This record gives sequence, C-alpha cells and structure tokens, in this order.
Amino acid sequence: MTFPRSFTPLVLLGGLSLSQSGHAQQAARVVPKLEPVAETKLLMEGLAHANFKGLERLLTQKPGDNQAWTFARGQALLVAETANLLMLRPPQKEGQAVWFEKAMALRGRAADLANTLAKKDFDQARVGLSLVADSCNRCHQSFRVPVQIEPFAEN
Ligand code: HEC
Repeated sequence: MTFPRSFTPLVLLGGLSLSQSGHAQQAARVVPKLEPVAETKLLMEGLAHANFKGLERLLTQKPGDNQAWTFARGQALLVAETANLLMLRPPQKEGQAVWFEKAMALRGRAADLANTLAKKDFDQARVGLSLVADSCNRCHQSFRVPVQIEPFAEN
C-alpha cells in the first residue's frame, strides 16, 4: 500500500517516540547465537598454551618494567577469556558439567593471576601461574588428554 507523498512528514512526526521504543524492542529481540568455529585443539595451541608459555617466560625473573607487567596481565586475561571460549565447546555426549566446572576454574584462576600481575606481586604471580597449570591439568585428566602442563619446567 502506498501513501500520497504529502502525508509522509506527518506520519514521521507522530510516530517519532513510538518508533524509538520500537527500535529498542527490535534490538532486544536479536539473540546472538554463539557457535564454536575453531577446533578445541587450535584453541589449546594458539591461545591457552601460547599465552601460558608467554607468562612462564615473563615470570622467569621479576619483570623489570611496567610494560612487561602489563603484557603479562594481558596474557593472563587472554587465558581467562579462552576459558569462556572453551565453554562453547563442551563434549557432546557426557561430561558437560565437569567440562564447565573445569573451564570456570581455569577462568577464575587466570583472572586472579591477572589481578596479582596488576599489583606486580612477583612471588604470588608465580604461585598463581602454578595454580593455572593445575587447572589445565585437572581438565586434561578428567578428559584423558595426555598433556601435562608443568610450570617453569624448563627454567
Ligand atoms: C575444560 C577443559 C580444558 C582445560 C581447562 C584446558 N584444556 Fe588443554 N585440552 C583439552 C582437550 C579436550 C584437549 C584435546 C584437544 C584435541 O586434541 O582435540 C586439550 C589439549 C591440549 C594441548 C594439546 C594440543 C595438541 O596440539 O594436541 C595443549 C598443549 C593444551 N591442551 C594446553 C592447555 C593449557 C596450557 C591449559 C591451561 C591454560 C589447558 N590446556 C586447559 C581440554 C582442556
């Protein structure tokens, strides 16, 4: 149905407040659909392990400047965020609750480590990284993944 052109401004003015709330409602109806794209193995190598190893390197000795502390904090947060991505990828058949629990534990410990790094507490940060490694290993053990993460093993 088409309206005569001269009607349009009236309709627009009258509908202004209505259409604004209408937009808000429309926006709320968009539900993002989260779906995994990469293989879990790729997340392990490219995110979890890469950032873990970076932290290990940075925490070999007490970081000397602010930049190194900030970088380390960022790596810890990326490990924590990786745990969120892991929660999109629970095992299909069983063990989902265990998976979520292990991923949340990793997220919590990595976020705690980020806080410790923000405070530049070196000793506590090394303890924190060991706790993160423990979270990695607990999930690997639960799902029989033969990968053992040993913090500071090479140092
Ligand atoms: C919630 C469970 C879970 C957590 C937490 C977890 N992993 Fe994994 N990890 C897995 C699974 C499952 C695999 C096997 C993936 C595959 O081969 O498909 C794996 C495999 C790996 C691998 C081997 C990848 C390869 O190339 O075969 C490495 C390395 C790894 N994880 C490192 C880590 C590190 C480091 C952390 C902690 C920062 C971590 N993982 C935390 C579940 C987990």
